[in-house]
Amino acid sequence: MTDTIPEGARAGGDGLMVKAEKVHKSFGRVEVLKGIDLEVKPGEVMCVIGPSGSGKSTFLRCVNHLEKINAGRLWVNGHLVGYRQKGDKLYELRDREVSAQRREIGMVFQRFNLFPHMTALGNVMEAPVRVKGESKAKARERAAVLLERVGLGDKVGNYPAQLSGGQQQRVAIARALAMEPALMLFDEPTSALDPELVGEVLDVMKQLALDGMTMVVVTHEIGFAREVGDSLVFMDDGVVVEKGVPREVLSNPQHPRTRDFLSKVL
Ligand SMILES: Nc1ncnc2c1ncn2[C@@H]1O[C@H](COP(=O)(O)OP(=O)(O)OP(=O)(O)O)[C@@H](O)[C@H]1O
Ligand SMILES: [Mg+2]
Repeated sequence: MTDTIPEGARAGGDGLMVKAEKVHKSFGRVEVLKGIDLEVKPGEVMCVIGPSGSGKSTFLRCVNHLEKINAGRLWVNGHLVGYRQKGDKLYELRDREVSAQRREIGMVFQRFNLFPHMTALGNVMEAPVRVKGESKAKARERAAVLLERVGLGDKVGNYPAQLSGGQQQRVAIARALAMEPALMLFDEPTSALDPELVGEVLDVMKQLALDGMTMVVVTHEIGFAREVGDSLVFMDDGVVVEKGVPREVLSNPQHPRTRDFLSKVL
């Protein structure tokens, strides 16, 4: 394999799953992330809340190598995202090296983006076969197990149009898990769902958390953050305003901006 992660890129991150150090990101002249410092330990579930436009999605996209940061350092699973460090010099990774790094991360968006012409099983099998070169038989077997795990054992042959929004989102979660990620990122995974379908998706995410998956979850579901989150981050205007144990941040926010936000959503 030519696209394995280069050795030099492995070191660092202090044993954390995610380590962000003074991460800055601008779009043109607009600075959207203004020096983010965050740490996510292996097995930790970190929930992120904050007003619209505060930079939550942009931060997730930086972690997932979909956006290049302008300054600071970002490690995921011990790898410096997008770069290889040799001595005190940084070298940009090539596209295929970036792809190899990204494979360690599963991402679930608000919109499920399933392939409409593939069944639930086909959607979950696709990446392992195409990207990892897994045999179809093996991928099919694992896809069936994953769909069972998200409660869709009886829907493997359904096309997305034949599934509810909650079921489609659970297929999307199974699809991300099929690549055996070390880290799962969720960007408002229940925001597009009818209220009665939110619970089934949150239940799957909770089970995933109990199974030990490391997760960063941008969400408006305060109840989920309180119950499942190990940590809660409040972002506003491109900075981390407050971070702590969810119960404490929610019941006793230290910063006026956190208090103001919570008074609107709680
Ligand atoms: N590709 C882009 N080009 C230019 N500006 C962008 C781009 N992506 C995001 N932005 C801007 O960056 C800011 C932060 O956006 P982001 O999507 O990260 O916010 P958010 O916290 O996820 O908000 P929401 O809760 O609405 O999803 C916004 O002002 C947005 O307009
Ligand atoms: Mg967003």
